Amino acid sequence: MQVAIIGTGYVGLTTGVCLAFIGHQVCCLDTDEAKIRALKAGKIPIYEPNLSELLEEASPNLRFTSSYAEAIPSAEIIFIAVGTPPTPSGAPNLEYLSQAARSIGQHGAAGFKVVVNKSTVPIGSGNWVGSLLREACEGREAGTSPEFAVASNPEFLREGSALHDSLYPDRIVIGADETRALEVLYSLYRPILDQTFSAPTYLPRPDTVYAVPLVSTDLASAELIKYAANAFLALKISFINEMGLLAERVGANITEVARGIGLDSRIGPRFLSAGIGWGGSCFGKDTAALIATASEYGLNLPIVEAARKLNSRQRDRVVEKLLHELKILKGRTIGLLGLAFKPNTDDLRESPAVEIAQKLVDRGVRVRAHDPIAVERFHREHAGMPVQTCENVCETAEGCDALVLVTEWSEYRDLDWEAIAKKMRTPVILDGRHFLDRDKLARAGMRYLAIS
Ligand code: UGA
Repeated sequence: MQVAIIGTGYVGLTTGVCLAFIGHQVCCLDTDEAKIRALKAGKIPIYEPNLSELLEEASPNLRFTSSYAEAIPSAEIIFIAVGTPPTPSGAPNLEYLSQAARSIGQHGAAGFKVVVNKSTVPIGSGNWVGSLLREACEGREAGTSPEFAVASNPEFLREGSALHDSLYPDRIVIGADETRALEVLYSLYRPILDQTFSAPTYLPRPDTVYAVPLVSTDLASAELIKYAANAFLALKISFINEMGLLAERVGANITEVARGIGLDSRIGPRFLSAGIGWGGSCFGKDTAALIATASEYGLNLPIVEAARKLNSRQRDRVVEKLLHELKILKGRTIGLLGLAFKPNTDDLRESPAVEIAQKLVDRGVRVRAHDPIAVERFHREHAGMPVQTCENVCETAEGCDALVLVTEWSEYRDLDWEAIAKKMRTPVILDGRHFLDRDKLARAGMRYLAIS
C-alpha cells in the first residue's frame, strides 16, 4: 500500500521504517529540511537500537521528503506523527497537528484516503482533524477533492525497544467511525497481525508471538485507550513507590514486595520497579493532558493527580537522602550515573537526572555526571547547566562525596567498585533504581543507600 508519514520523530520514523520493512511503499515527510537531508544520507537523528539496520533493509521501499506535494497525492494512508509538546496548562500544543492536517487537505488527490492520528492527541482530535481536512479542500473544483476518513491508531512503543514493540506489539488498536477506514488499516497491519513477515536476524520473533490481537473500535475509544494505558502504567509505578516509602519505614524490602504482588497474574510483574520515578516525554505529558481533558468536562481525576504528585516527590527524596547522609550539601561534589530518562535512549525529556542535577545545583552542589550515550545531547539541550560530564564512571567518582545511580544502564552493573570507591572523598552510593548488588558494593567498601 502507498503510505505517507508526517513527522520523523521517534514515532514517525519507527512506524515508517517498520511499514516499509513489511512491504509497503512509504514516504516519510518532515518540514525540517536538515533532518530530511540527514535521513536521505542514511543518518538517523535519534538513538534507537537497530534502527539503522532496519532502515537499510527497508530502504528500497522508503523515501524521505520535505514536500507535501511529493508525499501526499499518491498516498492511500497518511499517518500524522508530529510532535504535540506540552503547554504550561498541561494541554498539548496542537499547532503542528493542525498544520499537518491543513497541508494534507490541500495536497490530497481525488479518491478515498485514510488520515491516521498516530501522535498522542487529545480525545476529540479525530473529529477536529476531519473538519480541518474538509476546510482545506473547500473551493476545489468538483471531482478533484479527496474523500477523507480519519482514524486513530495510537502507538505503544517504548523508546529503546521501539522496533521490537512495533513489530511484535501486545496489541494493535485502530479506531474510526467509518468501517471503510478500519478495513484499510486492517490490510495495512495484516503482516504484523498474522506475523507473516520474515523477522530480521537482529530482532528475532519472540517464541510467544504468533498472532497479534486487534482492537478495532470507534475514534474516541481509541484516543482514550492511549491515555488510559499510559496513566495506568504511570500510576503502577507511583503505587510501588508509595509502598516503597512505607516499606522503608517498616523495614520491608520493596523489591521482594513487588515480586510478591507481581506474581499475582491479576497484577503482573512489570512496571513495579521502585525508584526515583518515571521520566520521559510521555507519562508526564499524557497524565497532564488527561487531567486537562477531564477538567474540560468538569471532572477531577484524583488517582492520576496523586500519581503525578508522588512521582515528583521521588526526586525530592534523592535530595533528602543525600542531605540526611552528608548533613550539609553546599560545597559537596556529587556524581550522577546516567542522564537519559531511561537506558538505551539518549532522550533527556523530563529526565529525572536533569531534575535532580538542578535541585543539587540550586543547593550549591558541584555536580559531575556520566552517561554512555546522552552526554552530547545534554550539552546541547542544557548548555547553561553547570554539570561537569566525564568519560567514564571512575572519572566521575573523582573527589565525590556521593554517587547517585539515576539511569540503570546495564554497563553500570559490573564496575570495578573498589577502584571507584578509592577515587571518592566518601564512598557513598545512592541507588535510585534498586539496580546494583548491595552486598558486592559493601564488599568494595561502598556505603549503599537505596530509594525505596
Ligand atoms: C511509554 C509507554 O511505556 C509506551 O507504551 C508508550 O507508547 C510511550 O510511553 C508513549 O506514550 O509514547 P517510554 O516513555 O518510552 O514509553 O518509556 P517506559 O519504558 O514506559 O518508561 C517510562 C519511565 O518509567 C522511565 O523513566 C522508566 O525509568 C520509568 N519506570 C518504568 C519506572 O520508574 N519503573 C518501572 O517499573 C518502569
